[in-house]
Amino acid sequence: MRMRIVVTRRIPEAALAVLREAGEVWLPEADRALEPDELRKAVDGAAAVVSMLHDRIDGPVADAAGPGLRVVANVAVGYDNIDVPALAERNVLVTNTPGVLTDATADLTFSLLLALTRRIGEGDRLLRAREPWSFHLGFMLGSGLQGKTLGIIGLGGIGTAVARRARAFGMNIVYSGRSRSAAETELDARFVSREELLTTADVVSLHCPLTPQTRHLIDAEALGAMKNTAYLINTTRGPVVDEAALADALRRGEIAGAGLDVFEKEPEVEPRLLDLDNVVLTPHLGSATVETRTEMALLAARNVAAVLAGEAPLNPVRG
Ligand code: DGY
Repeated sequence: MRMRIVVTRRIPEAALAVLREAGEVWLPEADRALEPDELRKAVDGAAAVVSMLHDRIDGPVADAAGPGLRVVANVAVGYDNIDVPALAERNVLVTNTPGVLTDATADLTFSLLLALTRRIGEGDRLLRAREPWSFHLGFMLGSGLQGKTLGIIGLGGIGTAVARRARAFGMNIVYSGRSRSAAETELDARFVSREELLTTADVVSLHCPLTPQTRHLIDAEALGAMKNTAYLINTTRGPVVDEAALADALRRGEIAGAGLDVFEKEPEVEPRLLDLDNVVLTPHLGSATVETRTEMALLAARNVAAVLAGEAPLNPVRG
């Protein structure tokens, strides 16, 4: 009998083709996030689950799948939606999709940074509102990047790709998290404490994964430590930032602005953020290019195919 592969949401055809070679693919009819009870029902009898970042995959979900479950392949580099230790206890492998989304996410990070510092959203809204305007030297001034300092929290693959882009714009780089000597040489990046990063950076960009240690890493105190001319960019996971504290800090002018691609209670957005002009918002688009999403889905499918064929997964996650 062919093994059951549950794909929780539509994925590109190329990836489905790989999965169909490996087993019997089940896809939901409607293209929306499955409710928890729908997910538990769907995985019944699955040998593999291809999950999305909005699917909570934990012990009870693995138990609902049954003892035949061998692999959960998350179509994302982040895997905070998966209880990896609970799955390991049940001998279920977990995989993710590192590498293939690095450049797309770094591009989006830099797009937010530029949109924010050059007030692109505000300008666009002004014109669409058909407001009168005329060129003058003091009109809608933003902030240049040359010679400014970018503070990167988490200089992994994506953080490094962002730093490369920042160097091309003439920015200096400081970073905190884990020390990386190769990046220091390539990017002339300086390893500093988080406190020094927050107090000195002109732009703080978050690239650490969401873990119990990084939840609300950027809270009222951290925001209060930032310069009031500084910008915050978050393209990692929403809960790394205390969104209510961020809305307060922005309203009080404690920081100059924020560019956010991810949200604490996704897909909800803290309503006060929606009313602020010094905020640029995108709906979790970091990896959203045709090429990248295809690569991500293909990588997840190849991980499933490898495990079901009795081979080692390409991108195992260790909890
Ligand atoms: C990831 O892969 O973790 C991203 O958030 C999805 O683009």
